[in-house]
Amino acid sequence: MTEPPTGPERVTSDDEPTGELSIQGIAATVRTCTLCALSETRTNAVPGEGSGSPSIMFIGEGPGFNEDQQGRPFVGRAGKLLDELLGVVPLRRSDVYITNVVKCRPPENRDPLPEEVRACWPYLESQISLLRPRVIATLGRHAMNRFLPGARISDVHGRSVRWRDIVIFPLYHPAAALRSTALRQTLEEDMRRIPGAVLESLALNTGTGPERHAPAGTPAKDTDSTTAGEPPREEQAGQKRLF
Ligand code: URA
Ligand code: SF4
Repeated sequence: MTEPPTGPERVTSDDEPTGELSIQGIAATVRTCTLCALSETRTNAVPGEGSGSPSIMFIGEGPGFNEDQQGRPFVGRAGKLLDELLGVVPLRRSDVYITNVVKCRPPENRDPLPEEVRACWPYLESQISLLRPRVIATLGRHAMNRFLPGARISDVHGRSVRWRDIVIFPLYHPAAALRSTALRQTLEEDMRRIPGAVLESLALNTGTGPERHAPAGTPAKDTDSTTAGEPPREEQAGQKRLF
């Protein structure tokens, strides 16, 4: 497994927007959030949806037109392809959690600006802390670079990279796969490797792995604090399904 050089920049200021919220509480906060300018142009914020104890979390870049209309992630053409690809694993949407780096649609589907990503990051970080996925499958280059700055998707797609005590598994974006049969084939092959990434992550957390996350429910800004003396993650969380 590859070790990334550094993690992403952390947002630990006093204006942390999420505190000790539940996953539903985060969603409610996101829906009325005005922390960045994307709130002025969105129709609906898209907090994310899926299992409350997912082994795998999929993270895209940001909502598109259809997602903004419906307030749900990956419901347009790229979403249909994602559903199909989940089916080959096989997984259903309800088995996983699906969200985005920014929760509101950038106008004209432009890339989110650094300050928008920064403003929204605590929501994603809190979702990760609460849901505690084994594997984060990033969809596309932008989501990947939040976790693995400087990584090249052509190098690391379909491979496990460690981030904290989680496995990051970079995937091409389904929208890119809609434009290229070859990429679609690659994306499908990579998806089939996700169960293996979950197993790798389990080994990471039950063996001589790194220090663990703070317990679920701890504010996101504390997740990097020292965890010495904590029981192993399995003992905290109880038995967890593989998928
Ligand atoms: N593309 C994304 O990155 N996210 C969505 O939710 C939909 C399309
Ligand atoms: Fe808030 Fe994120 Fe939406 Fe910006 S993109 S308004 S930070 S929820």
